[in-house]
Amino acid sequence: MYKYIAYTFLITIAITLGGKVFSQPSKVIIDCDPGIDDALALCLAMESPKFEIIGITTIFGNTTLGQATKNALNIVELSQMDIPIYRGAAYPMHAPLKPPPTIVHGEDGLGNIHLAKPTLKPKGKPAAQFIVDMVNQYPGEITILAVGPLTNLAQAIKLQPGIAQKVKEVVIMGGAFTVPGNTSPVSEANIDSDPHAADIVCTTPWKMTFIPLDVTMKVKIDISLLAQIREKNEKFGTFIYDISQYYINFYQNIPGIEKGFYAHDPSAVMYMVDPTLFSVEKGPVRIATEGIAAGQTIMATKAHLYKSPWKGKPIASAALKVDSEKLLESFMSIMANNP
Ligand code: BDR
Ligand code: CA
Repeated sequence: MYKYIAYTFLITIAITLGGKVFSQPSKVIIDCDPGIDDALALCLAMESPKFEIIGITTIFGNTTLGQATKNALNIVELSQMDIPIYRGAAYPMHAPLKPPPTIVHGEDGLGNIHLAKPTLKPKGKPAAQFIVDMVNQYPGEITILAVGPLTNLAQAIKLQPGIAQKVKEVVIMGGAFTVPGNTSPVSEANIDSDPHAADIVCTTPWKMTFIPLDVTMKVKIDISLLAQIREKNEKFGTFIYDISQYYINFYQNIPGIEKGFYAHDPSAVMYMVDPTLFSVEKGPVRIATEGIAAGQTIMATKAHLYKSPWKGKPIASAALKVDSEKLLESFMSIMANNP
């Protein structure tokens, strides 16, 4: 009898440990416009054992498509990981291309540290086609993390609308639901850069979660955390510290944030690491595509569910609250290589 109990106990422990140690990392495609906080998000996702990054797709936004692609190649080179990079859209679907916000991310998109030309090269396949091919190859397995304008995702849907049901989840850093925007009183930069693409993404029937300014502006990374990352993370620490100086400089005139910055894109990675850090509201989301409110993300809650143009549209989730203390704790443990 005792022998039997001991045996069952040992088996249970083995299964539990096995589950922890050998649980499969989930497949992720990161669509980004690096960008200082995009760079930090990429390093974070690369450091987390929870993800297998099967590809990075690039997009205009914080800088030009060419520079964003070069920056992504530089980051993959630094990581010494084998991650393919695919070039995406160089301009929005219909809206005019806005000049890159060099005041926020620098002339090179990475705080003017001017990295050398990478030896790696992007793949020849366009980003949207890569997304379609991967989703078809791994139905139900792929999460797409989009932390730039949504043009590549919209193009993928236009290429093959049927992929929507095969995507595991789309996690989007974008939008401003209950707070003012950062490019206009109502619009957030990623959505505002291509509102038509964003509206296509919102009206696609896939599981999608927004990580908007409502939560990302509650997560602040300051110089002391950056100093710890520099000290503890051999691979990325100095790079992250160096690129962040320009970003900190931009943020220094924003009240409530001293010697630090808002962790927009890293917050979306942290949602994928641990969704319980956030609480979400659900409802159909539409984007204002024209006029002075262009780029506004509008979710219909109960009273307006059946009103056009939200009627019958897919239900999205938007994170509106975050436990920022716990998030930063978990973020730091990943960046200090101690998840
Ligand atoms: C978003 O816009 C860009 O500046 C950041 O990289 C982030 O993705 C925040 O509005
Ligand atoms: Ca970004």
